Amino acid sequence: MKGLTFSSVSFLLLFTLFSQSLAVKHNDFKTCSQSGFCRRGRALAERANTTPRWQSPYSLDPSSISVSSSQASFTAGIKSSLYPDIKFGLDVRVQEDGVVRVRMDEIDGLRKRYDEAAGWALIAEPLVNQDITWTVGKKDVRATYGPKKDIEVVVEFQPLRVVLKRGGKEQVVVNGRGLLHMEHFRTKSEAKEIKEGEEAQEPMQVNSLAWFEGDSEDGYWEESFGSHKDSKPKGPESLSVDIEFPNHGHVYGIPQHATSLSLPTTTGDDPFYSDPFRLYNADVFEYLASSPMSLYGSIPLMHAHSADSTVGVFHVVASETWIDISHPTTKSTNTHWISESGILDLFLLPGPTPEAVFKQYATLTGTAPLPAHWALAYHQCRWNYVSSDDVRTVAKRFDEEDMPVDVFWLDIEYAEEHKYFIWDKKTFPDPIEMTNDVAAVGRKMVAIIDPHLKRTSNYPVYEQAKELDVLVKKSDNNEYEGWCWTGSSSWVDFFNPASWSWWASLFKMQEGKTWSWTQSTEDIYVWNDMNEPAIFNGPEITMPKDNVHYGGWEHRDVHNINGMLFPNVTSQGLIARSDPPKRPFVLTRSFYAGSQRFGAMWTGDNMGTWEHMAVGIKMVLANSIAGMSFAGSDVGGFFGNPESEMLVRWYQWGIFSPFFRAHAHIDTKRREPYLLDEPYKSMLRDILRLRYSMLPVWYTAFRETSATGLPVLRPQYVMFPQDTNGFAIDDQFYVGGSGLLVKPVTSPGAKDASVYLAENQVYYDYFSHKAYRGSSKGKSVTVPAELHQVPVLIRGGSVIPTRERPRRSSPLMKNDPFTLRVALGSASSARGELYLDDGVTFSHEKGDVVFREFTAGKAGKGIRISSTDLAAAHPGDVALSTYDKQNDFVKSIEKVKVEKIVVLGLGVKPSSVKIEGGEQLEFEFVEGVAADGKKEGVASVLTIKNPGVLITKDWEIVVA
Ligand code: GLC
Repeated sequence: MKGLTFSSVSFLLLFTLFSQSLAVKHNDFKTCSQSGFCRRGRALAERANTTPRWQSPYSLDPSSISVSSSQASFTAGIKSSLYPDIKFGLDVRVQEDGVVRVRMDEIDGLRKRYDEAAGWALIAEPLVNQDITWTVGKKDVRATYGPKKDIEVVVEFQPLRVVLKRGGKEQVVVNGRGLLHMEHFRTKSEAKEIKEGEEAQEPMQVNSLAWFEGDSEDGYWEESFGSHKDSKPKGPESLSVDIEFPNHGHVYGIPQHATSLSLPTTTGDDPFYSDPFRLYNADVFEYLASSPMSLYGSIPLMHAHSADSTVGVFHVVASETWIDISHPTTKSTNTHWISESGILDLFLLPGPTPEAVFKQYATLTGTAPLPAHWALAYHQCRWNYVSSDDVRTVAKRFDEEDMPVDVFWLDIEYAEEHKYFIWDKKTFPDPIEMTNDVAAVGRKMVAIIDPHLKRTSNYPVYEQAKELDVLVKKSDNNEYEGWCWTGSSSWVDFFNPASWSWWASLFKMQEGKTWSWTQSTEDIYVWNDMNEPAIFNGPEITMPKDNVHYGGWEHRDVHNINGMLFPNVTSQGLIARSDPPKRPFVLTRSFYAGSQRFGAMWTGDNMGTWEHMAVGIKMVLANSIAGMSFAGSDVGGFFGNPESEMLVRWYQWGIFSPFFRAHAHIDTKRREPYLLDEPYKSMLRDILRLRYSMLPVWYTAFRETSATGLPVLRPQYVMFPQDTNGFAIDDQFYVGGSGLLVKPVTSPGAKDASVYLAENQVYYDYFSHKAYRGSSKGKSVTVPAELHQVPVLIRGGSVIPTRERPRRSSPLMKNDPFTLRVALGSASSARGELYLDDGVTFSHEKGDVVFREFTAGKAGKGIRISSTDLAAAHPGDVALSTYDKQNDFVKSIEKVKVEKIVVLGLGVKPSSVKIEGGEQLEFEFVEGVAADGKKEGVASVLTIKNPGVLITKDWEIVVA
């Protein structure tokens, strides 16, 4: 605890003691029944469900339809029979890639609804399809499109219903159950008048006002939760909409929740959860390992999936949102989205494959840019490394134990009184020297910078924010004050453009600034935490909803986006601080749709339990399919002191998560990998080395993600969209397109693990080379999983590039040779990719890259293995400008060789192995099972030692 001031220690202790007396504090967070608009939304659904002939009061006025001159979109007026004087407008358009956008807003209302969420989430205004022709009929407007002209969007007039079909089959139906309701702005007195005489309505007289809206003004004008009062100056403005998937039995997405990947039901006869899934970014202390409760981030994207097709819906709303899910049959899904404010801005993603949905979503919100290469290596964190000497000692211990690590992290205690950017001089007297010591072997540091600013005149960051008038305000327009790690704090309003260049400039190491990062170097990167925002004394540990942001918007309107702006501006600061710019690294806890553009995320304060380890996999998968591929969870668990067995298993899962960081709470015992006793310590060393050896696989997978939006970790339904057995599988996954299939062990005492193989293909154990056979009907195989063994299989037909020399950090591997594992598939062929660049700058964007394709295929009785230049074949895939195969990066690794090629599953012992047109090569052959046979057992292994070929060059090896 060295380095903590008395006041921060006492505050911290109080907070920790208080919070540790219970696990998750249900009382801190609302259930649907404690939230007025959710209650109203669910009550509406309940009335609709129990009322025969329920009909939506909303209809489209055909006389108001106006098709744009280009034909690409149309607008129309919408009316609710309950409020004939209130006007709504609908705008429907089909985008170039077939995505349908449906927008609805109140027109000429008392106020304006928040309509800027898309402005933050989308990378650009989507291009509209110019080939669409809308046909206006008596009952609907419709358009048919798509390469096969099999997609149809139909907007029915009365009641209003929007249907997306493919091949005549309904894919998505909006307002099919009549739950659409946009509560218009009203005055208190108006609302009262309308209520008169409505209460005695008979249920069968559907859609009378009271019947539709409920017979009391439930939570309209003010709400309290605990000691917190929400003044709700705008009154009710919630938005309810039902979205059905009549032909899709599984839905995925809407992270972040600690739950299974295939989302369980929340309503109906036998719901799995009693509350809807909630999206309201929140710092939930000791969150449960299975719950629909909100967590730190929110992405309102849902995939619906069946063996026939995958579709998506993306509901761009930034306010608190609750989502009920039910399955009327095993083959269909109903969802009901209830949001507190905002317009309807709904994207219907037609798919029809998972891959197409990823691309459609990436066209909207962008892809994750390629991270710095070192960011994919191992990160060592804890709350806290307490001094610069502590950091040095930890680094030394890693070296002494021959354990690789790339990044050391500093949590909040590095900062004097938690005034971020300012070092505590007592404990970190020499931050630049410390960082340089760490950087001497290519390593980096990450320091935490939270969004709460200590309200004190001796903190220039706070003083400047005040001066610039960029702090969040209360409803009375005065500066908002709340409590966080620093004690009394204020929050920068990143919605205010005046904060952007100022915040970014804080990361510049300018001379003469006594308060900013003059005391830092380009080797220190940033962790943005607590950005939901977490406010210890706020309602639900966050900001009051009636606080006011730039533009006059209430916090309620923007809450879920708020956290995303912080890493956005921070990453811009990191790019701008160096010349030439380097790729930024920012870790965020809170996120929204589009956050993938600004850095990595992690799943927050998990517990050191087997359940949390297991649900971490599902959470990372759910984030991955929603664009946040660069995801991980605290290895070891944030809270608690995991026993050695659990820690080993946790690292085994950690090395297969895209973001790989060990972290621990301040009250936990130290648990750096070198501290374990044998045999665990050696196991951890091997595990860390395995991650490092596979960095080429990870980097290649991240390149693909950055180009296409396909996730780095791919669950079973993404890989095998037609295999119904795999739709609920969320405890195993594939790493990018590499062909590695991983099934982490998440229970104690395991000796083996069951891995599901969806195809008639051979899979090889990565370590023992044992060949397993899948089946086109799907089949589970049992693989050994003693504590030192992590179940990793190579899918037949893949080539896996690795670098196998143990090094202290990943930059030291730059000139290391490669090993290629050629895992022949049942057709005796294989293919793989390798992507490399300098890993640091943006020179890859102008084509300074190496991008190779490795193939193996039958040639007579043997095979041919070759390396070709994929960048030359597809320059657009890797760079904006023309690719030059003699680029600077190629030159910098010109001498790097392939040191070993291992071919698995060859049918017969070769008589010769030689470079095409060249010399004979040395090889070893161990007899075993052939790829194209039917047998299981250890595969044959051909090892070609020192083939002498270069990684940057074309070559061909003939195995005869
Ligand atoms: C939050 C973070 C955790 C961090 C702690 C102190 O709880 O989630 O990772 O260690 O704050 O900064």
